[in-house]
Amino acid sequence: MGQERVRVGILGLGRIADLQCLGYLEHPRAEIAAVCDLDPVRAAERARAWGASRVHREAAALFADPDLDAIEILTPHHLHAEHAVAALEAGKHVALQKPPTRTLAELDRIAAAAARNERTIRVFENFSYYPPHRRAHELVASGAIGVPLSVRLKTAGGRPDAGWRVDLSSLGWRMSRETCGGGPTTFDHGYHCFQMARWFVPAEVERVHAFVHWTRLGDDAWYDGPALISWRYAGSPARYGSWEVIASLGMRVRSQYYVSDDRLEVHGTEGILWVNRCTGKLLEEPALVLYRDGETRAFHDLAVDWAESFRLGTRDFVDALLEGRQPHQDLADARKTLAFALAAARSEAEGREVGIEEMG
Ligand SMILES: NC(=O)c1ccc[n+]([C@@H]2O[C@H](COP(=O)([O-])OP(=O)(O)OC[C@H]3O[C@@H](n4cnc5c(N)ncnc54)[C@H](O)[C@@H]3O)[C@@H](O)[C@H]2O)c1
Repeated sequence: MGQERVRVGILGLGRIADLQCLGYLEHPRAEIAAVCDLDPVRAAERARAWGASRVHREAAALFADPDLDAIEILTPHHLHAEHAVAALEAGKHVALQKPPTRTLAELDRIAAAAARNERTIRVFENFSYYPPHRRAHELVASGAIGVPLSVRLKTAGGRPDAGWRVDLSSLGWRMSRETCGGGPTTFDHGYHCFQMARWFVPAEVERVHAFVHWTRLGDDAWYDGPALISWRYAGSPARYGSWEVIASLGMRVRSQYYVSDDRLEVHGTEGILWVNRCTGKLLEEPALVLYRDGETRAFHDLAVDWAESFRLGTRDFVDALLEGRQPHQDLADARKTLAFALAAARSEAEGREVGIEEMG
């Protein structure tokens, strides 16, 4: 692309926009030039705070804004395909929040629009940028635990009144399959976990099984946990992974953000890695620990604030546009993670093990 600056328009100014703006505001060659939200008060406040010169009421007007290079899409999931296709057709590059779409067919429509218009699109999945995850991944890739054999993930939802204040409107659309695409935890949050499962073991996921219990929180409000999702990787040696969701809804999870305690363990033929935190911070333990040859090494030199993953992810998008390269995550990779998430949902619905190839 080789341009001097990236002028971005942000569509959807809800909860996550607080973190998504950081990388743009801090990048010397980026600016948030325009914003758009259905809520005019919210839009005016954000524009003022971020120095955006233009406020659009309609997404179509944002896409038609000639002084924008890229659109950051932060709307509810049922709007992602419509918004991403329209932005690409208008000639904009696109950063689209995870999960990219509710179905593979929607994602394929976006891919076709990106190819037709020769625009860059990335799916933004922030766990891939979280510094302890990145360091763990570098260690795995350098052979620190031998050949990776298994990934075990754990998410514990905590007492809802601790942590970030999240508007009911921000939770409401997540409670409906129509607008969310699946469960608020097992599909929405799950996209991160399925991505980590694919990233740390370099093998295709072949078969998935999911137990999901829906815990009622109130009228039309549910937590899709406890849940236990397991999978088998293709090829040899035999490798399995699992993700457990715990509905510890009375537990206080220390967090500046969502009340979610996320942990990850990667076992290899010669060692083990633990990432002990992510969104929240339960204990004062090191964020990353490596065991090998009878020795334990703790990593204390990492940026552990969850917001850092958003900064780094957005910086990657801006730098990629400036350098004319594809930023992480491309649609081919996103399609695999989405198929994995949808296979888990089908397994839950049909009470059987599902092969990824069934998802199409
Ligand atoms: N990476 C993460 O960890 C993470 C965390 C939270 C949310 N997200 C993702 O970010 C996206 C947004 O989530 P959120 O929690 O900020 O949602 P939210 O409900 O808080 O905000 C959505 C915003 O979009 C606006 N909106 C809805 N329809 C619109 C339209 N047609 N035109 C213009 N504006 C419209 C709403 O008014 C609202 O301000 C989702 O894809 C979600 O999965 C990612």
